[in-house]
This record gives sequence, C-alpha cells and structure tokens, in this order.
Amino acid sequence: MRDVTKDNLTDVFMGYLGDDVNPRLREVLGSLVTHLHAFAKEVNLTHEEWEKGISFLERTGDISDKERHEFVLLSDVLGLSSLVDMINTRPEGTSSSVLGPFHISDAPKLAIGGDMKGRFEGPVLLSEGIVKNTEGEPIEGATVDIWQTAPNGLYSSQDPDQDTYSFHGLQTTAADGRYAFTSVRPVEYTVPTDGPVGEILNACGRHPWRPSHLHFIVKAEGYRSLVTEVFPEDDPYLDQDTVFGVRNDLVMRYQTMPAGSFPEGFELSGTVNDEYLKVQFDLTLVKT
Ligand code: BEZ
Ligand code: FE
Repeated sequence: MRDVTKDNLTDVFMGYLGDDVNPRLREVLGSLVTHLHAFAKEVNLTHEEWEKGISFLERTGDISDKERHEFVLLSDVLGLSSLVDMINTRPEGTSSSVLGPFHISDAPKLAIGGDMKGRFEGPVLLSEGIVKNTEGEPIEGATVDIWQTAPNGLYSSQDPDQDTYSFHGLQTTAADGRYAFTSVRPVEYTVPTDGPVGEILNACGRHPWRPSHLHFIVKAEGYRSLVTEVFPEDDPYLDQDTVFGVRNDLVMRYQTMPAGSFPEGFELSGTVNDEYLKVQFDLTLVKT
C-alpha cells in the first residue's frame, strides 16, 4: 500500500500480517496496535511527546536487570498488573494480587508453627489459616510460600543487614490443610522511586506507598496456583495502594490477643508472654 493515510494506517498494518500468523498473536498485537493508533490520534501526539515516551522506555530498559524489573514496576503503577490479575481470577476462589519483585524462588522450609521473626524487634504476628477448595474441604500437601518486609519496611534483597532468606518461608500443609507461622507485623513501604517509574509517580502527583501486607503463593496438585496478599484492615494506605493490589476479601483484622494467651504448637510457644497480634486468613483454591 503506497497511499497510507492516518485513516487507513491501522487497516494497512493488519493487512501486513502474514496469513500464517499465530491467531492469538494476530488478536493481541492487532488489538494493541489498533488502540495505540487510536490513542495517538485521540491526543494528537506531538513529536516531542513521542520522543519523551521513547526516551522513557529506553531508560526503563537501561535500569532493568535480572534483579531490577522496572517494566514490571511500570505495569504495576499503571494498574496493568492488577488488571491482568483480576481478568484471570476466578470469583469462587481467593482473589489474586500482585506478585511484586521481592519473591525468591528457593525459600527455606518453615515447619507448621515455625517462626520468621527471629531477632527482629516489633509486635509478634501469629498468622494461620486453612488451604481449602471451593467446597470448603482442606487441601493436604499444598505449598504456601510466604514473604514480607522486615519492620524497617525493607525486603531482604533490599537490605544488606538481613540474610537472603529473612522473612521468607515455605510451608507444606498436612491433612487438615493448615498453615501457621509467626513473624513480626509488616509495615507499609514505598515501591522503588529512584528510576523512571519514580519520575512518572512524581509527575502525576502520586505517592509511592503500599499498605503493609503478607505475600503468599499457594500451589497444590490439581488446582490453579494462587498469588495473593493479605492486608490489615487498619492500614492507612488501604484505599490508596499505588499498585492497586487491595481486594475486599484480602483485608483482614489483626486481632490483639491478651498477654498469656499465646498457644502451644508454635516455635515461640512459652516465650511470648505479652500481647501479640493474630490474623486468620483462609486460602481457597480453584480446581484446574
Ligand atoms: C510488593 O508488594 O512487594 C511490590 C509490588 C509491586 C511493586 C513493588 C513491590
Ligand atoms: Fe510487598
């Protein structure tokens, strides 16, 4: 086609796709380019704005490596990651929520009732719940991969004062489907702002805060894997999570439990004499 105009460009693009292109690629890329063209026309994109956008993407690539995933962060703050989560969540199971960049794939085994708090200061948080299916039956042998920030708001990979594996643990449920562990109350924190995504937040007058949360990845044979988070209902950032990760069913009460009531069956049993916090969070998996 030699007579390309702004009105026929999208059709010309689609016409250039080969007959044997993968049908899903045709659908996804075709739609993306259609929306991209419509967007440029709608806002009358200038050359300067186009250059600024290209330079932003280049800098996003420059700062990225296998530990720093600036494109993922960009997707997070634009709401795309959460939208993909919501499109793929099944309403009969626990909602999924953002994975974030701080999961590690080889977390150490944590016995049921095990402790992740260790030497860290802060209120003891006892977390427990049942991994179950949509019929309410407990799932045996499910793996529950847990991670969170230290009380200073940093994940281990961000903090030279923490061991690689601090506040990371992997539990396997027994026949009753139960997981249980102690840690310290996580705190709200900011997503990294020292790169191009920080510039966007700043330019948009947006803050970089996330409400405090515990992360979970739950896997079991025959079920869809679940990536999710649990948030305390009194967190000040609950209604303004910068990565849009909060869902109603993921907001739980951290109950203050009276001194002297810490239960048996935990690594810390017999050592916690003061008040402590408790959160009960069941995780419902959907069959594949
Ligand atoms: C996190 O929860 O760890 C996280 C999620 C998205 C961006 C940055 C951090
Ligand atoms: Fe997080």
